[in-house]
Amino acid sequence: MDEKKLIHEALEAQKMAYTPYSNFKVGAALLSKSGKIYRGCNIESASYTPTNCAERTAFFKAVSEGDMEFESIAIVGGFLGKSDYSPDYCSPCGVCRQVMMEFCNPRTFRVIMAKTEEDYLEYTLEELLPLGFGPDNLR
Ligand code: THU
Repeated sequence: MDEKKLIHEALEAQKMAYTPYSNFKVGAALLSKSGKIYRGCNIESASYTPTNCAERTAFFKAVSEGDMEFESIAIVGGFLGKSDYSPDYCSPCGVCRQVMMEFCNPRTFRVIMAKTEEDYLEYTLEELLPLGFGPDNLR
């Protein structure tokens, strides 16, 4: 699976973001080892704390369908639709990194932060969450 395709899926997911409070729209596309792509968007709440990030939406969709092995995730985010909008890289929050740690191998799982299909950064989960605490620590 090439990065371009996954970023395209994240850009499509971003259009579904429900963000009446921040207007900051995030899209994610999570690639499972089976080759399936799960899209996710951020979903906000009037009481703020129930807000779910795009990345976690994608993970929870996949896991709730029994898919628990993942290759990579593409993320896009910004004030889409704003008159002077220009894309920037969107870095996953700490909570989402921890959720990735639950289901992914930190050495091999790749996180792609994209401005466009051509312009992106790529990190391993281990680079974004060094010395992460995960399921192996409880075995
Ligand atoms: N958000 C995400 O969905 N993913 C990120 O990586 C960063 C933040 C959302 C949460 C909230 O709806 C909005 O962006 C502003 O924080």
